[in-house]
Amino acid sequence: MDEQLFLLFPELNEFKDLDLKAKTMEVWKRAMVEGGWEVADLLAMPFTLLIDQTPINIIDHTRAVTRTALEIARAMKGVYGDRININQDILLAGALLHDVGKLFEFEKSGGKFKKSRSGNLLRHPFSGAVFAARFGLPEEVLHIIACHSKEGDGRRATVEAIIINHADFVNFEPFK
Ligand SMILES: [Fe+2]
Repeated sequence: MDEQLFLLFPELNEFKDLDLKAKTMEVWKRAMVEGGWEVADLLAMPFTLLIDQTPINIIDHTRAVTRTALEIARAMKGVYGDRININQDILLAGALLHDVGKLFEFEKSGGKFKKSRSGNLLRHPFSGAVFAARFGLPEEVLHIIACHSKEGDGRRATVEAIIINHADFVNFEPFK
């Protein structure tokens, strides 16, 4: 399973903090088990239900958001240097996990993906943060997951959460 995860998310290799890397991988693995999804399901799972028949799956969306976030951080550090502090490992974990709650928000019935009962009660920023907390992810990462979408408007406290919010939306708006 670890090998499959590295194939799905080559960006896992960017981690310097190996404990955070292991915890991030554990969340994805357990979310697949508890959500009842196989790798093939994830490759077919739309990244959003708000766009009808999007060709972008949740894996490619997550990868693109992660790479976008890393590039934003690199650009900002490159110009601002010591005047800004961005924790790349926290950014990476938050990017890779920001939408993991969709494994609970969605269900498949009749061959189609739709909103699950759980998803009607808890949107993915909530379910994702609660799930990741079970595996010991630091609060800085839970903050990114919980605040990456509209739930976080006016509540994003860290630069890493601000970056993920914007990286997510530039990877959503063009596909509407
Ligand atoms: Fe997203």
